[in-house]
Amino acid sequence: MLTKGYAWLPDRLRAENAPVVRTRLMGQRAVCIHGVDAARLFYDERNVHRHGALPEPVKSTLFGHGAVHTLDAADHRRRKSLFTGLLMNREGITDLVERTTAAWDATVANWVVDRPVTLFEEASRVLTEAVFAWVGLPLPPEEVAPVAADLVTMVDGFATPAPRHFKARAARGRQEKRLADIITGIRDGSVEVAPDSAVRAVASHVDERGDLLEPRVAAVEVLNIVRPTVAISWFLTFTGHALHRWPGTRARLARGDREYAVAFAHEVRRFYPFAPFLGGLAARDLTFHGQEIPKGAMVLLDVYGHNHDPALFPDPYTFSPERFLDREIGAFELIPQGGGDPRTGHRCPGEDIVITILAALAPRLARLDHAVPEQDLDIPLNRIPTLPRSRFTLARTEHEEWAL
Ligand code: HEM
Repeated sequence: MLTKGYAWLPDRLRAENAPVVRTRLMGQRAVCIHGVDAARLFYDERNVHRHGALPEPVKSTLFGHGAVHTLDAADHRRRKSLFTGLLMNREGITDLVERTTAAWDATVANWVVDRPVTLFEEASRVLTEAVFAWVGLPLPPEEVAPVAADLVTMVDGFATPAPRHFKARAARGRQEKRLADIITGIRDGSVEVAPDSAVRAVASHVDERGDLLEPRVAAVEVLNIVRPTVAISWFLTFTGHALHRWPGTRARLARGDREYAVAFAHEVRRFYPFAPFLGGLAARDLTFHGQEIPKGAMVLLDVYGHNHDPALFPDPYTFSPERFLDREIGAFELIPQGGGDPRTGHRCPGEDIVITILAALAPRLARLDHAVPEQDLDIPLNRIPTLPRSRFTLARTEHEEWAL
């Protein structure tokens, strides 16, 4: 897995020509499953539990100890209601998107003609500024870049033994400490935040037993809002890449065709690699396509391979937003952010936020007169998470020769 990255699981499944393969991951036996039925099995909580499933290096970097990702049953539903309440309401999403587009427009206005900028870094700062203000903790301008760097580092280092993993641990430690102190301050009245803010909702959330979350765990959950929002930088960088690599998409996006912009956002999430697979533990003895999965075994759901399965997405290595026009998407069909029902299961509650932000910023990028200087646009699949090697550099131009 460490050497093959995104190709590891799909290659194993292809080699066996089966929707199930047995392997080992971090010393533990694991059963890998693929396809719509596999996603359905995986998201039935009678089949797969999450407690004890996430390896320590992933908890210490990406998600945090005690995070919603690691809970099951009633504990999970209670904690999840905090996230769905905050993240899955139209008013809140519109507010976050407006903050993001305002920060984006101000940033782009400062780009100097012909001076290259790196899209990934610029996007991470725009998103950090917007989401911290949105949760109720606006950052002073000088803190935006270092906090953005910490959040990006947490995501970048979760799946590797390389030095960047230790940077990710350090970044998480710093941000958890900072936010835990704020949570304590909100509770004892020494830190003031808006009464209807997300950070106050987390600070006053009580679990199944009526207890407040420990300050560290509350900090973990604030990070579980801000960190993945900043991770949209990966998809925005891929958006720049897609516009360059598939220029036929640009005119329709630039014209402001909203339905096309949403389809484009879905295609970015499907086409480009981000989450490679998801893991849980078999809650009981299971059978999948005639193969037994013993209780306690690690179950891995293939995500990257699923989103490139030609049976689900014909011609999967062609970037084509049109495939998502004029149709409903099944709950287990497109799974870059998990499958099933986000209100009851572990599916990502931030999906509408991601789609709406991409659908707002992709047309802005499409309309921007810019050039893409010579650079290494290769996206190495053996690196998780990956990006174009150059992180996508572009330069504003006075006027570019292309027609709407
Ligand atoms: C869960 C992907 C953005 C909050 C997940 C899961 C994936 C995912 C794969 C795991 C599903 C599972 O365990 O079954 C992504 C990607 C994003 C993104 C690729 C784009 C960069 C967001 C945003 C938020 C968010 C913007 C919040 C503002 C969460 C939370 C969970 C989660 C709280 C845990 C859900 C649970 O365990 O019940 N996400 N996500 N994500 N995501 Fe996202």
